Amino acid sequence: MWLSLLSYWHKRYMTIKLERYKYQDCIIWAKKNGAPNAGRRRANYFEYILHLSKTLKPKWNPDAIRTPYPEVSVKRAKSPIKNNVSNRESRNGAITEYKEWKLNPLGSYPKNLIFFPKDSGKNHIASYHIDLPSHFIKAHSDINDLVVDPFAGRGTTLQAAKLLSRRFLGFEIKPEHVLMASQEYGLESSTSP
Ligand SMILES: C[S@@+](CC[C@H](N)C(=O)[O-])C[C@H]1O[C@@H](n2cnc3c(N)ncnc32)[C@H](O)[C@@H]1O
Repeated sequence: MWLSLLSYWHKRYMTIKLERYKYQDCIIWAKKNGAPNAGRRRANYFEYILHLSKTLKPKWNPDAIRTPYPEVSVKRAKSPIKNNVSNRESRNGAITEYKEWKLNPLGSYPKNLIFFPKDSGKNHIASYHIDLPSHFIKAHSDINDLVVDPFAGRGTTLQAAKLLSRRFLGFEIKPEHVLMASQEYGLESSTSP
């Protein structure tokens, strides 16, 4: 209930306040390491990620972010499944047509629930784990595309873009974070007044 309500709210908000962007999706990022202490509430282990786009059909490369199938799907794929039948029809043997259940060799189709660690454990207050931006860069851009991060921090997203052979450009207001990005990843920087 909360999820659908919030996601409805997100959609409404984005339509009304950011009319130049199109709401594409709401993804839940489940953190492998969340906030340790929540006082009298449950510990916070997830965040919403909103996918907004300027174009109606932004790039979508599902094959680039497929994941291994769960064991239950692998087992299920080993036995044929009756085609277009209700459980009752299937049980009384009325239908004998089977459909082939084939697993995609590249893995399972991406879900709107993703699991990544919270951060890299490094010395920036909110730095991503590199796997998080890598996931979205692979899903929504191609080699040589330009990845822009307006709040670059210590440059994790830019480094992910570099490793994935994308062009990249970032903005960061704090010189100490820019320094981290250049020291850690060797990213070039220039200052504007
Ligand atoms: C959540 S952190 C981003 C961390 C980044 N994803 C990483 O992994 O290192 C947000 C960053 O935005 C920077 N920031 C805040 N306001 C800004 C502004 N107006 N222009 C540029 N950077 C800004 C902050 O200094 C902070 O480093």
